[in-house]
Amino acid sequence: MSTDLLKGKRGIITGALDTNSIAWKVAERAHAQGAMITLTNAPVAMRMGEIKKLADKIGAEIIPADATSIEELTLLFEKSQEILGGKIDFFLHSIGMSPNVRKDNPYTDLNYEFYHKALDISAMSLHKMLSVAMKLDALSEGASVVALTYIASQRTYPFYNDMAEAKAMLESIARSFGYHYGKKKRVRVNTVSQSPTKTTAGAGIKGFEQFFDYADMISPIGNASSESCADVCIALFSDLTRMVTMQNIFNDGGYSNTGVSSEVIKKMNK
Ligand SMILES: NC(=O)c1ccc[n+]([C@@H]2O[C@H](COP(=O)([O-])OP(=O)(O)OC[C@H]3O[C@@H](n4cnc5c(N)ncnc54)[C@H](O)[C@@H]3O)[C@@H](O)[C@H]2O)c1
Repeated sequence: MSTDLLKGKRGIITGALDTNSIAWKVAERAHAQGAMITLTNAPVAMRMGEIKKLADKIGAEIIPADATSIEELTLLFEKSQEILGGKIDFFLHSIGMSPNVRKDNPYTDLNYEFYHKALDISAMSLHKMLSVAMKLDALSEGASVVALTYIASQRTYPFYNDMAEAKAMLESIARSFGYHYGKKKRVRVNTVSQSPTKTTAGAGIKGFEQFFDYADMISPIGNASSESCADVCIALFSDLTRMVTMQNIFNDGGYSNTGVSSEVIKKMNK
């Protein structure tokens, strides 16, 4: 396998909370492919200290930033360019949080302040990152932006609650901003729609364990791991995908195009 797909490229990785985080795997693989990166997460996530281990391992600096704050995102892009020595060639948006999911509020009776927060943190933050980057002219010509999403943006999964709207909005922002940034600077914006994955965000969802097994049974080649998600992100950051933009790419073992599997039929056949 090649080891220099991202050689000389500068990137920003959001959302590495612990070793289970998808962003953690993306950071490790981006480093292994020759990229120089900065890591960022919400200041509150820093207190857990895990991200420091990743930073030490791959020789990256950490820049705390709440993804809802324009001020902090501006500092993130300014400092990243300073540290890495030039414009940014790629960034990963790997951010999701819903207070309604955390508090177990039913979808039909949401707390609207929390709803707003979920949309701001999980979706609008992608718009803010892109807008800040554009104003600072912080991205290089043909740079690549990837955000992580879930199929509940397009089909109903009751347990996903208000995160469904957040993901629908996130995917729409990728298409809309992808148009404008593509015209302006050939910048590419894509989303990767990932299988259920055992992470902190994933485990916060009610019935996740059972659904994980169900999805695995439906998918002809099984659930996609976080490592395989990282590989898709690396491919999208690389020049090999330089004409791919405004797409939602399923990394789900074929789940999204499968109606039912023989394993599920067998299970129903009591
Ligand atoms: N785990 C799954 O099943 C799954 C499936 C599809 C998509 N995804 C998506 O993948 C992405 C990464 O999630 P994960 O599963 O690796 O879980 P994770 O909990 O490891 O990552 C979520 C990250 O969001 C960060 N975050 C929350 N609020 C923030 C804020 N205000 N500012 C900056 N960062 C903030 C958290 O600190 C955390 O690092 C999310 O967008 C998630 O929705 C996850």
